[in-house]
Amino acid sequence: MNRRHLLYLGLSTATTGIMKRAGAVSSKQQSMDDLQNLPPHLTVVGEFSLQERAAAKGLIYGAATGFDFLVSDLDFKKKFLQECGILVPENDIKWFNIRSISDNFDFSKVDHMLAFSNNNEMLFRGHTLIWHNANPKWLIKKFKKSDPTSKKIENLLINHVSTVARRYAGKVHSWDVVNEAINVSDGQKGGFRDTTKSGVGIKKDKYPTWFNFLGMDYIDLAFRVAAEADPTAMLTYNDYGLEYDIPWQEAKRGAVLNLLRRLQTNQTPIHAFGLQSHLQGHEKRFNPTKLRNFLHDIADLGLKIIITELDVADHKLPRDIQIRDRMVADAYYEYLSVVLDEPAVIGVLTWGLSDRYTWLSQRRPRPDGAPVRPLPLDADLNRKPAWYAIARAFDNAPPR
Ligand code: XIL
Repeated sequence: MNRRHLLYLGLSTATTGIMKRAGAVSSKQQSMDDLQNLPPHLTVVGEFSLQERAAAKGLIYGAATGFDFLVSDLDFKKKFLQECGILVPENDIKWFNIRSISDNFDFSKVDHMLAFSNNNEMLFRGHTLIWHNANPKWLIKKFKKSDPTSKKIENLLINHVSTVARRYAGKVHSWDVVNEAINVSDGQKGGFRDTTKSGVGIKKDKYPTWFNFLGMDYIDLAFRVAAEADPTAMLTYNDYGLEYDIPWQEAKRGAVLNLLRRLQTNQTPIHAFGLQSHLQGHEKRFNPTKLRNFLHDIADLGLKIIITELDVADHKLPRDIQIRDRMVADAYYEYLSVVLDEPAVIGVLTWGLSDRYTWLSQRRPRPDGAPVRPLPLDADLNRKPAWYAIARAFDNAPPR
């Protein structure tokens, strides 16, 4: 049993007392009691929001959200404005949303979100132009039917990237131009994702996508077209599964580095790397040295780094809320302390702001049916230990 486990056991005994004592008091009072019991690394000074604490160090903080939540939930919108300095649409720019019908772009929701962020002096991230997992039905049909040598697929890519990037040119902080192009287990040289091997989506439907028609050059092509359409956005390659000391992630770190090096050698216009950072609260195989080295190698290429989709899955953590929140908070703190040490890291975005709206409710539900708690604010929009962990990590970060 390591020190961290002992700590949680101690916390568990201590919190049983709190829970008994709190039997008669409101849950709000209880959560305030719990917060007052937080250890020094989860306590902060002052009333500043996450975006203010980040900005004090020359960093940006923000979150992903959906159009529908911003429009329909005024309390959530208020918190979003308070905490976030950058907004990224969680799904609204993906192909299946703006192009559910072929040849027809529906930009209405994206336009609204961009206006919302501009009117509130927030930055705006574009996510994502090319992703194997964002295909509308008509595109899947085309992929399945097209001849591998057909120029049609290349034209589709060019047309999509240039139309979308041009429409928002000059207004986007950064674009995830290509998302998740590496999947080392597919057996392709360079570790490139081959969806005819690993499949697409939860159902793992196997059919060819961009890589199968254009080879790895589809990545260069997407970046070139994006740069021409929007010469000011920070063009980013974004990927997941790079955070832990696990053999497949180690291999993936190598493949991603090689991809980034190759793009640089080809003089492809890429400016940043997006480290998604979907963490697992139960995962112990975290190796700060390996992560630091990876970030350092990316920085050496002259690229900036953005933590683009941070959250901490709690589906395998104990049910007890105080214990669970502490473990989630500690995972945030430990991770951010390492990544924020790297000066090339310019920003942090969480994949959602409040447990009220998180993809993990569907993606990583708890076997005991309890609601998941992976984000900085709870489902009532109150700050959780995770919020304090992020705040403290920003306060401790070296200035940019
Ligand atoms: C997820 C969204 O959060 C879900 O709502 C949606 O159903 C599927 O996509 N990596 C990414 C994001 O780059 O686009 C994904 O977002 C999460 C994993």
